[in-house]
Amino acid sequence: MSLALPGNTEAEVITFPLPVRHELEIGLLADTAHTSPKYLYDAVGSVLFDAICELPEYYPTRTEAGIFTQCMSEITHAIGPHSTLIDLGAGNCRKAARLFPLLHPNQYVPIDISIKYLEEAVQRLQQRFPYIEMTALGLDFSTPWTLPAEVRTDKRLFFYPGSSIGNFEPSQAQAFLRHIRTECDTDGGLLIGIDLIKDHETLHRAYDDALGVTAAFNLNVLRHINQIIGADFDVHQWRHHALFNTHHSRIEMHLEARTAQTVTWKNMQRHFMPGEKIHTENSYKYSLESFLTLLASAGFGHAQHWTDSNHWFAVVYAKAI
Ligand code: AVI
Repeated sequence: MSLALPGNTEAEVITFPLPVRHELEIGLLADTAHTSPKYLYDAVGSVLFDAICELPEYYPTRTEAGIFTQCMSEITHAIGPHSTLIDLGAGNCRKAARLFPLLHPNQYVPIDISIKYLEEAVQRLQQRFPYIEMTALGLDFSTPWTLPAEVRTDKRLFFYPGSSIGNFEPSQAQAFLRHIRTECDTDGGLLIGIDLIKDHETLHRAYDDALGVTAAFNLNVLRHINQIIGADFDVHQWRHHALFNTHHSRIEMHLEARTAQTVTWKNMQRHFMPGEKIHTENSYKYSLESFLTLLASAGFGHAQHWTDSNHWFAVVYAKAI
């Protein structure tokens, strides 16, 4: 199926692969409807996520940035210079660029699902740091991935900030970390940001902000689904719902039907009762101990960590051995 998005020229008509459409259809037709969090990030969703990061309620971004500001020399000293810096989910590359002056990477390899956005960011960055070799890659971490031959194998430092590991189910997180470990040489390691368990009020506000930006981010997934499978979701008929699930130690985002409705696409349909939900995202919160255990179970060796004064967020550097 091909769909032209508003503003796209004919040459930029977007084609959605069959597995993507199937994955969405299976999730929508399940007893409890659900979608992968990756569908939150189309062009509009990415802008909304950037806006979320600026909100006073969304503490992870600024707390992590504060840890890097406070502890930058300690962190970069622990890692040492001249690594092959592999930035997982690089986006605008800003977080990694802060490391360059102290880390002096030999090669910078930013990776993101949105390669076009990434390539523009890398072009700008290359002008600021002409002496660092840069190789941008488009990869989707929710499917099996390996690094191509042009990525240097010496002293690989995987950088995964922003607590994005929390959007994986714990078993997927372990498999992802194990895969990263196998991609490291003995001199390599992982520098990762982790959102820690905290009071439920703070957590809830971070995912249900007063301006409704997170609500718009969540609701936008319906527009995105309409584009991908040609469904007729009416965004007005849904509301954002976020809760902290204590048992699973995770924030859950759902969309709740305001009214009874039937959503159709192709020759398929799904009826929703009022109050019925679509589960759109989990964001797992770890204790430092449970995350260090997860790293060890994935094969990583010695780990060092840095936190803020509230112990809301942690930056962890784990060596491959
Ligand atoms: C990208 N990820 C770490 C964010 C989070 O906090 O789980 C996504 C997000 N969802 C709602 N607000 C932010």
